[in-house]
Amino acid sequence: MSVAGSVRAVTTLRLTEMKQRGEKIAMLTSYDYSTAKIVDAAGVDVILVGDSAANVMAGYETTLPITLDMMIYHARSVVRGVNRALVVVDLPFGTYQGNSKVALDSAIRIMKETEADSVKIEGGEEILESVQRIISAGIPVMGHLGLTPQSIHKFGTYNVRAKEEAEAEKLIRDALLLQEAGCFAIVLEKIPAALAKRVTESLTIPTIGIGAGGATDGQVLVVHDMLGITNDFSPRFLRRYADLHTVMSEAISHYVSDVKEQEFPNEKEQY
Ligand code: KIV
Repeated sequence: MSVAGSVRAVTTLRLTEMKQRGEKIAMLTSYDYSTAKIVDAAGVDVILVGDSAANVMAGYETTLPITLDMMIYHARSVVRGVNRALVVVDLPFGTYQGNSKVALDSAIRIMKETEADSVKIEGGEEILESVQRIISAGIPVMGHLGLTPQSIHKFGTYNVRAKEEAEAEKLIRDALLLQEAGCFAIVLEKIPAALAKRVTESLTIPTIGIGAGGATDGQVLVVHDMLGITNDFSPRFLRRYADLHTVMSEAISHYVSDVKEQEFPNEKEQY
């Protein structure tokens, strides 16, 4: 929320209305001020300060090592660049599982120290108490089901989840429980498109898909992936809208050669 009584234009209520109208929700990640400013001005509805920062910002193999302090740093930077979009911040691994009081304390730190609008939590029934406790404190929660990267060591792979009936049924039950607990939206990651459609049609709150087909109420991608800054991650669901890896590499090589050959700076670029 910004000052002078002006709540950011996209609210959790607005997202529900978008679902009711059939208007799709565009969500992207951001982790820093400059990127968030561009993403917000381009009309993205929801900006996720994802714990994928562990991968694309910090270079970790999984999302597990990122800490609450690191997430707060990223979220603060993002919030300063956003005027319109709803800002959602991931609660990182180890800050909400198993103890709903710890979960509430973590969510309160995010809200107080970053001025973001809401938090996101991975999981269903097993983290329901934490979700309820956070929501009862007035903090909006986005759920996250399907492939939940914080559980990578339990899954063993980043493959598509809920292909089997039992896991699909559990996912539908979890989605309904999260909705009942008061979540304002749910991310569905890497599940069959038909299941995502079923979940979306069963809920009154919006679903946001990543690798979950076209029937979800919105889509989310990691900004570094869709801009092609990363070039070593190519799952089927990822559409690259630019090849910034090449653009950046060429620009930097050009700069290096200009410096070496004393082409930069020239007469006009000095005082
Ligand atoms: O951390 C993240 O970027 C996410 C998205 C992939 C949904 O959780």
